[in-house]
Amino acid sequence: MINLPLLKNGGPMNATPSRDCSTCPGRMICHCLQVTEDVIVHAVSVLGVRTVKEIRSCTGAGDGCTACHRRLKQYLECGTTTEVVR
Ligand code: FES
Repeated sequence: MINLPLLKNGGPMNATPSRDCSTCPGRMICHCLQVTEDVIVHAVSVLGVRTVKEIRSCTGAGDGCTACHRRLKQYLECGTTTEVVR
């Protein structure tokens, strides 16, 4: 089992509100748990999570209705090149 740091939206990936779009937190991927794309991309590309279960334990995304699981799998399949997922 991989021991991953918790990266929910209140964590280090959360940006301070600003007019500068470079600090925007990104689009919402998991609406139930309010987890943004930036958090998912970081978990997959930097932390190396490889399953939806690992994304769930690392970010909290996918722990609600499961409607976002298909999209989470897309991030895993493409290694988080966000252009492919959009
Ligand atoms: S939208 Fe992700 S669990 Fe419901």
